[in-house]
Amino acid sequence: MNSFVAVVLAAGQGTRMKSALPKVLHPLAGRPLLEYPLRAAFDAGAERAVVVTQGQPEIEAHLARALGADRIRTVVQDPPRGTGDAARIGLSGIPSPRVLVLYGDTPLVRAEDLKALVAALDAPGSPDLVCMTCRVAEPFGYGRILRDAAGRLLEIREQRDLESDAQRAITEVNAGMYAARTEALARVLGELRPNNAQGEYYLTDAVHLLGPDRVASVEGHADALVGVNDRAQLHDAEERLFARIRERHGRAGVTIRGDARIDDTVVIEPDALIEAGVRLRGATRIGAGARIDVGSVLDDADVGEGVVVKPYTVITASTVRARAQVGPFAHLRPDSLLEEEAHVGNFVETKKTRLGRGAKANHLSYLGDGDVGAGANVGAGTIFCNYDGFRKHRTVIGEGAFIGSDSQLVAPVTVGKGAYVGTGTTVTRDVPDDALAIGRARQENKLGYAPRLKARLSAKTKPST
Ligand code: UD1
Ligand code: CA
Repeated sequence: MNSFVAVVLAAGQGTRMKSALPKVLHPLAGRPLLEYPLRAAFDAGAERAVVVTQGQPEIEAHLARALGADRIRTVVQDPPRGTGDAARIGLSGIPSPRVLVLYGDTPLVRAEDLKALVAALDAPGSPDLVCMTCRVAEPFGYGRILRDAAGRLLEIREQRDLESDAQRAITEVNAGMYAARTEALARVLGELRPNNAQGEYYLTDAVHLLGPDRVASVEGHADALVGVNDRAQLHDAEERLFARIRERHGRAGVTIRGDARIDDTVVIEPDALIEAGVRLRGATRIGAGARIDVGSVLDDADVGEGVVVKPYTVITASTVRARAQVGPFAHLRPDSLLEEEAHVGNFVETKKTRLGRGAKANHLSYLGDGDVGAGANVGAGTIFCNYDGFRKHRTVIGEGAFIGSDSQLVAPVTVGKGAYVGTGTTVTRDVPDDALAIGRARQENKLGYAPRLKARLSAKTKPST
């Protein structure tokens, strides 16, 4: 196939979003809106892309970071005077004889549809312009495809310029994706006039300016055209993307239950199980055979093979190595690392803490700024007191150490290998290897004292009325 350049229009005001953030940077399923049509264009074979913007530096910076500065160029349209004006600016100076023109707000466009669109430039008659159309149940808001009796494409007419109920009833609409011969399209874009209800230069007017002999159309998937103009449409488009992503993983050997919502950026290996209500975001990676149970939220998490994440666990920017177990109701905050087969149980919070191979903290603990050696056991209710109100300090626990329940380790502090901290101890001094540390008031038993105490206490209690 002949090479082509993609021109993506993203300079509209996006006023219907009612947002300080440029419309095309609004994220859905983990990527900004604009990334989807660009990725589809590259997947379809585009050599390079030109993005027409209002000159926002954050859009340019994002594109360079996400897709590479070398194959994307941005050009500025100021002021935005319509899609035709934007396309004219985007096309100027493109050396490639073929272009693919897309809108930046149609995230569901598929590479296969775009390939068919570009290939249609070589159809009989070698058209100058090929438009993608879709048949939809609710055509309101889209440009309608007007054809003659022979079925030739005559014109695309915008919603606000429709003249009759018969036109309004047309269900074939403009998807907003076009393949064209650069020279021919550039020529008619120079002839556009803003003589329509919105007073804008319409790209769609290129259709009747070129005339039916030079224009063809291909029909694309109906969801390709779902455009994002407001937040309700953003929600709709994102839900469709999530469904598509679930399907993709399902075909790649991952069991997905119910409504799990997985960002496009997430990697999942085969035989993993993702339960209903799970949210996987960002650069999260799930290893083979891992199980992520109901309601868990993972952000930039690296989860190894065979790991079990039990219900309602939150993991952020942390690593969980093979066969470790986390949750239910656990919270791994940034820079936590669970080595192979470590266990973190319910109501345990970790932050910047490593748990060595097979180490366990199964109940109700806060482990911040720490290092727990392999095979160590951290009892219920243990707190790493890492913060003195000014600075953070580290707690280090040696391999095979045992920390009794309800202990406080006042950092900076080290508990040696194989050491034993008695239940309820406040550890303020380092504990040598294999030592027993115990720091609590000695218990006294007063024999026979309980009945006397109860009698005294009940005499003080007023009779209840
Ligand atoms: C457009 C089409 C319509 C089609 C629909 C499909 C036109 C005139 N209409 O309508 O036929 O059914 O898309 O989604 O093309 N933009 C610029 N500069 C501008 C104006 C817009 O770059 O001056 C960009 C926007 O950022 C957006 C895209 O072009 O990404 C489409 O503009 P929008 O105003 O959303 O067009 P629609 O009204 O949706
Ligand atoms: Ca739109």
